[in-house]
Amino acid sequence: MPPSSRLADLIIRHGTAITPGGPVVTDLVCRDGLIVALDSSGWQARETLDARGLHVLPGVIDSQVHFREPGLTHKETLEAGTRGALLGGVTAVFEMPNTHPLTLWPQDLQAKLDLAAGNAWCDYAFYIGGAAANATQLTALETLPGCAGIKVFMGSSFGDLLVDDDDVLRRILAHGRRRVAIHAEDEARLRERRAIAEASGDVHDHPHWRDEESALLATRKIIRLAAEAGRRLHLLHVSTASEMALLAGHKHRVSVEVTPHHLTLTAPECYTRLGSLAQMNPPVRDRHHQAALWQAVRDGVVDVLGSDHAPHTLEEKARPYPHSPSGMTGVQTLLPVMLDHVNAGRLSLMRLVDLVSAGPARLFDLPGRGRIAVGQSACLTLVDLNARRRIDNRWIASVSGWTPYDGITVQGWPVATILRGMVAMRDDEVVGPPLGSPLHFDETRREG
Ligand code: DOR
Repeated sequence: MPPSSRLADLIIRHGTAITPGGPVVTDLVCRDGLIVALDSSGWQARETLDARGLHVLPGVIDSQVHFREPGLTHKETLEAGTRGALLGGVTAVFEMPNTHPLTLWPQDLQAKLDLAAGNAWCDYAFYIGGAAANATQLTALETLPGCAGIKVFMGSSFGDLLVDDDDVLRRILAHGRRRVAIHAEDEARLRERRAIAEASGDVHDHPHWRDEESALLATRKIIRLAAEAGRRLHLLHVSTASEMALLAGHKHRVSVEVTPHHLTLTAPECYTRLGSLAQMNPPVRDRHHQAALWQAVRDGVVDVLGSDHAPHTLEEKARPYPHSPSGMTGVQTLLPVMLDHVNAGRLSLMRLVDLVSAGPARLFDLPGRGRIAVGQSACLTLVDLNARRRIDNRWIASVSGWTPYDGITVQGWPVATILRGMVAMRDDEVVGPPLGSPLHFDETRREG
């Protein structure tokens, strides 16, 4: 090494980096977990990646996954879920609290952090469930290290976490300052209409049972209660045209997530082709709703994409509807499916980066993440926009072992995942050992 040169851990050469100012063909010099220079002259490195012809994105963050551990490891584990994340180009996840036991108390969160240490392939944080039992203690709970925030199920989906009482919702919103993540379906209406699904036993009726009105009622209510409490919200997996129209008027308080499956699959075809594998809550709906979701992506009403990775085994999914559980895998396919939409001209790569990287970092106060710039975390996702690949169940790392996109060819593929300056996935292989660590949220910026 010439005496004047400095030693980096990794130099990524000649990639097209998606920086805040736009795409730039540049080198990226990574040292001690950070991007330290965009110009590699005068630098040597222990490892070099040739990214010629590839795009380099700030590391993808999936802010909604269910990894089922503890308690439901026949469906998914933290190890397999985070391995799937890396293979799909995802560098960090927020994991959901409807495990067994539910994540309600400090010891439940600690148990997940202990399970993840040495086992998780990507970085992680865990949601705590908001419930009647812990409502008044959420101010302390939401600031525990490793906590992504508070998640509330207003309608029952999978697991025992449900808040269908307005007074409990008020109590939850009154305790804490961070954005509260909401699954908005109106429980009373869901109960009233379950007979529709029971009577037909046909999964095509899933969006009819859990209809647009069920979603809108809950979304309208939680916006009202949050306004009374002066609290910010994050509306998960928004699935209807009418919710989008409503949410567009409340952006000062409410952030919005959509999922790749709501943007990609369409009723009734998906139920005909996939049966209950397409069953998800809230449901995949028809073209009218899907067009409204895409319009909201284009208009900027949508802030983030989350996969809502919610695995169940094929055996469980094969139970007669509606006894089949709702949920599908998604963490590993989020990026390939969305890159295919980029190639089809439905959104730009810049917009995608805002939705899966810059957006989550901004909304959830993750300093150092979501941007390619000197001084930022060297969490990066390298993608080949030209690669045409067939998604296959055998590629899926999830314990459940399947994807609704099995057999579908996409254009655009993650070819390397960089975790804090370390190559953690390359060419469809993870590079061990698992080096995931808890995410650090900015504690100083959590205003109400
Ligand atoms: O379809 C779903 N499945 N929606 C949810 O909100 C929960 C999830 C699960 O945990 O299976």
